[in-house]
Amino acid sequence: MATKKMKHILVTGAVGQIGSELTMVLRKKFGNDNVLATGRKTKPSETLLNSGPFEFIDIAKRETIEKVVKDYEIDTIYNMAAILSAVGEEKPLLAWDVNINGLYNCLEVAREHAMARVFVPSSIAAFGPETPRINTPNETILKPKTMYGVTKVAGELLGDYYVKRFGLDVRGVRYPGIISSETLPGGGTTDYSVEIFYEAIKKKRYTCFLREDTTLPMMYMPDCLKGTLDVMDADFAKLKHHCDYNLAAVSFSAGQLAAEIKKHIPDFKVDYKPDFRQAIADSWPQSIDDTPARKEWGWKPKYDLASMTTDMLEKLGQRYKEGKL
Ligand code: SER
Repeated sequence: MATKKMKHILVTGAVGQIGSELTMVLRKKFGNDNVLATGRKTKPSETLLNSGPFEFIDIAKRETIEKVVKDYEIDTIYNMAAILSAVGEEKPLLAWDVNINGLYNCLEVAREHAMARVFVPSSIAAFGPETPRINTPNETILKPKTMYGVTKVAGELLGDYYVKRFGLDVRGVRYPGIISSETLPGGGTTDYSVEIFYEAIKKKRYTCFLREDTTLPMMYMPDCLKGTLDVMDADFAKLKHHCDYNLAAVSFSAGQLAAEIKKHIPDFKVDYKPDFRQAIADSWPQSIDDTPARKEWGWKPKYDLASMTTDMLEKLGQRYKEGKL
């Protein structure tokens, strides 16, 4: 397949946890005016609004994507819009509509406009209780028990189908839980790993909705952004996979994260009151093997638990001092 140049980019879900930071690195790389940020209803930050174009769209309504694709001559989509695992269990039909019908609309519009590339993120939620939980291989059992996971597996398959059937260049990774300091995650099972930092700084207390020994694959935002840009820049000819790359960085339990934060804030106290999200976490791997991403496009994360914790506390601590947390 001849690789086309990415020039005018549409980011869906640009107000979300990953989308908001991804939009800014894409604007830096491709030029502010060449990256259209879009959201469904959440008000965008001043940073997003002041640095480039922004529009409200609903990816479940195809005509709203089509309009911005025409208006901004879009040739590349990063489809970051999604309903995450916890909200997906409360609103399964909405999760299906956004994550599947929305993705289908993006892929169809991309096909019709012969776009250069589409990024379709998947997640560790694609796995389920029957999947080997330690060092989960790239090729394995995919029988998720959440609606979010069902939509992620279907999304991987749909993206791969568009590559094979229509020659559309679609790529994606299975993100672990993402920890970040700019935008709070919304409605996921790994959200505790971000909340804990805010509460550690603000109250020195946190009640975790997962058990202390719950271990999950995790990643710090700078690595997440790097992985996203790198897979999109990879040489298509070298890719043996397309939409289902395992992407690993660190794995730790809620208790290990709390202990790491305590090294910086010794009087920090955490208690554990697991809720319905525990069952979701228990159905996901503890660690994943990302050999294909490393071999096929040179993936390598930078942050470990200690360096991520130090950086998070520095960034959030500074904002707290400025009265902005
Ligand atoms: N962070 C997501 C969630 O918890 C997993 O992809 O739902």
